[in-house]
Amino acid sequence: MRKIAFLRSAGIRRADPYVQQAVRGLAADGIEAGLFHTSGTAGDEDFPGYRERLDRGVTPRELADAVAAWGADAAVSISLPCENALRDAAAKAFLDAVGIPTVMTPLAATMLLVDKWETKRLCERAGLPVPDGFRVDSDLLAGRGLAVPGYRDALRVQAERIGYPLMSKPVWDSTSMGIRTLRSPADLDAYLAPGTPVSGAVSGPEPGVVSAVVEQVVEGDLCSVDIVGRPGAYQVLPLCWTGRAGAEPVFTFADLRWCGPREEADAAFAEVARTLVEFCGGLGVHGSVNVDMIYTGGRFVILEINPRIGGATTLSCAASGTNTFTSLTRLARGLPFTGGTARRAGWAIEFLAGDGIAPAVLTELRRRVRVVTAHELVIDGASHGDIVVITLAEGEEDRTVKALTELREATGFPAAEVMGKISSLLNR
Ligand SMILES: Nc1ncnc2c1ncn2[C@@H]1O[C@H](COP(=O)(O)OP(=O)(O)O)[C@@H](O)[C@H]1O
Ligand SMILES: [Mg+2]
Repeated sequence: MRKIAFLRSAGIRRADPYVQQAVRGLAADGIEAGLFHTSGTAGDEDFPGYRERLDRGVTPRELADAVAAWGADAAVSISLPCENALRDAAAKAFLDAVGIPTVMTPLAATMLLVDKWETKRLCERAGLPVPDGFRVDSDLLAGRGLAVPGYRDALRVQAERIGYPLMSKPVWDSTSMGIRTLRSPADLDAYLAPGTPVSGAVSGPEPGVVSAVVEQVVEGDLCSVDIVGRPGAYQVLPLCWTGRAGAEPVFTFADLRWCGPREEADAAFAEVARTLVEFCGGLGVHGSVNVDMIYTGGRFVILEINPRIGGATTLSCAASGTNTFTSLTRLARGLPFTGGTARRAGWAIEFLAGDGIAPAVLTELRRRVRVVTAHELVIDGASHGDIVVITLAEGEEDRTVKALTELREATGFPAAEVMGKISSLLNR
């Protein structure tokens, strides 16, 4: 094995510093890494290997051809969100066929997992709790194809059975795009009305509702877990806590995201983790899945299972001292891969500095706490400021709060709101 290709859609900086470590690890073993990416720029410091920027609209065939032309012996997909995971799964089919084994969940399973309705059905079958819900089909609503005069009323009856508030989520899409809360039958009627444009979600010729899952609102703590491996060997990374869930949809990065001790939840999760591992094995998951859940009343309710690395991958790597990108290259190389639970190494905390961080302040931050990464968060080309991940050992809580408080007094960073959240998390 001489060359491994990484297929990537989102900016590569979001994988800092773990992707660089993985690439250097490969180089140490005499393997060259190549990045085939379709968003943003990448320098040597972002990806210290071969780099090829492809057009954002590259087809799976073109992507596979570029990887083959480079002479890759194997490939791994590290793309997100789901529409790009699908692209890579299709490219995988082409690559596998020409003898370039690609670490990515096979296309048929990927197509089920990128669809929130299909995922819900699969979870139900596996005995994993999901919010009660129903599917809304945009073709039927728009009267495309078969006319179904009772369709809207049928949906109203379903909604009454579950009860309000409800949440409507496009069956595709990610990072909370297109999600809206329906608080009453009137909201549902307005939502289902012919020709209602849905915020940011419609690009077809006829405006209207996109196919969606409408489901019960669950109140609780949002969390997510990454599972990495192949049938027979899956590693379950630590649970990451990502905010509060309720009737108000929130931007994915609005809250602190963290990984740390939470005994009762960790104990309750052990059983769910086993079921999820079986679920992955049954579907033939190869590479990573990222599972979004709500922890409520001692149970984990599954929102979705993304067939790709997660938006909190850096956090789960930092918290467990493992490196998902290295794990993926081990799978690509056919090296022994041990499944099981990756032990949490301490605390990892991720927060957003909406206005960015001045270089001098970042230097000060690094002097005071262990900074895993601090880089600009770019989603769909839009900047959300800088995202920071820090780690600390259990027992270092007070020292860390003190260090950050002093930094804030000297520089105004972190902002009061973030500082308040970090201290209340670490002072529990
Ligand atoms: N049933 C639900 N009850 C409460 N909040 C929800 C529910 N479903 C989704 N949410 C909120 O919307 C966010 C995104 O939902 P999710 O199903 O993970 O879709 P995606 O991440 O693909 O946009 C969640 O993180 C949560 O804040
Ligand atoms: Mg999600």
